[in-house]
Amino acid sequence: MAIVAPDIGIDLGTANTQVYVKKKGIVINEPSLLVVDRGGRHAVRAIGEEARVMLGRTAADVVAVRPMADGMIRDFDMTQYMLQYFVRKAIGVSRLVKPRAIMTIPCRVSPIERRAVRKAAMYAGIRENQLHLVEKPFAAAIGSGLPVFEPVGSMVVDIGGGTTEAAVISLGGIVVSRSIRIGGIKMDEAIVAYIKREFNMLIGDRTAEDVKTALGSALPLKEERRVLVRGRDMITNLPQTAEISSTQVYEALKSPCQAILAAIQHVLERTPPELAGDVMKSGIHLTGGGSQLFALDQYIASELDMPVLLARDPMSCAALGAGHLADNIELLHRIGKSSFLREEDEE
Ligand SMILES: Nc1ncnc2c1ncn2[C@@H]1O[C@H](COP(=O)(O)OP(=O)(O)OP(=O)(O)O)[C@@H](O)[C@H]1O
Ligand SMILES: [Mg+2]
Repeated sequence: MAIVAPDIGIDLGTANTQVYVKKKGIVINEPSLLVVDRGGRHAVRAIGEEARVMLGRTAADVVAVRPMADGMIRDFDMTQYMLQYFVRKAIGVSRLVKPRAIMTIPCRVSPIERRAVRKAAMYAGIRENQLHLVEKPFAAAIGSGLPVFEPVGSMVVDIGGGTTEAAVISLGGIVVSRSIRIGGIKMDEAIVAYIKREFNMLIGDRTAEDVKTALGSALPLKEERRVLVRGRDMITNLPQTAEISSTQVYEALKSPCQAILAAIQHVLERTPPELAGDVMKSGIHLTGGGSQLFALDQYIASELDMPVLLARDPMSCAALGAGHLADNIELLHRIGKSSFLREEDEE
């Protein structure tokens, strides 16, 4: 007897991957991360959350691999392993019939990149011809409850780890969009670069991310705060600590915040007037983990003089949107060509 697998929604992100199983909700929410042996064969030791935990306990003979970069597959083999692991964990390996899947993809990826995503999904066990790719901001808009199929304009800005995707959506399609390779990871890198320049000190990515979540802000804080940061002196190579202020972190994050603002402006400038009017009324909806940077919503609102709203569960919006489509598969037919990349447009 064949056991039918449930439809699933997958948000394969640069920083985190989530899998939604029909009628169940998000069952996988893990970092897009693997731990492999340092030796020649790079045997996989752990994936996802287990990999993160293993890194914390670091054995010296393993290295971390982030197989996704800037929203796309950087290391194909590692992405395959990871995706297969997440899909099997989500639906159970005993399923005899492969699942149908709705999967998110950045706006305007090349045909080669799209094919790589398809191939990885097939390897992960998705049924052939039953993989539906949906652009990330479209999925995020559904996940944050926007009326994407209605004849009104809605604007969503998904700020993830690797990319920021701004889009105006109406009648089941993306009308205007802009995708830039700037997100939470570039913010971390900006903090690393600032501390290198100002303190001659090298800090790790994790430390930079901690500084960002503790002190980071898109606007200067009313009351300055400070944290002690550990790193390595670039001249002596010895461990060093430095006190970093919130003003300094704000300075470091200025450039990625400006780039995000510019992407939003780019989309607004190209939005047809009647849809722009709708957006003025309903506001710009922020999703993605990077949108949680303190005061980023206020910064965008004050620069553009428009309402800006942060989604309730920003890190899950894209997966919830893909999941909503898995729950209501008939909606796929209502998605416009521009945002719904069907099998036929592949070649
Ligand atoms: N409170 C916070 N303040 C600032 N940044 C945050 C906060 N919480 C999470 N982030 C950032 O959010 C990012 C991860 O967001 P998310 O999971 O949405 O990315 P992703 O979907 O994996 O990436 P992408 O969509 O770009 O491929 C990380 O860079 C993380 O540092
Ligand atoms: Mg994302």
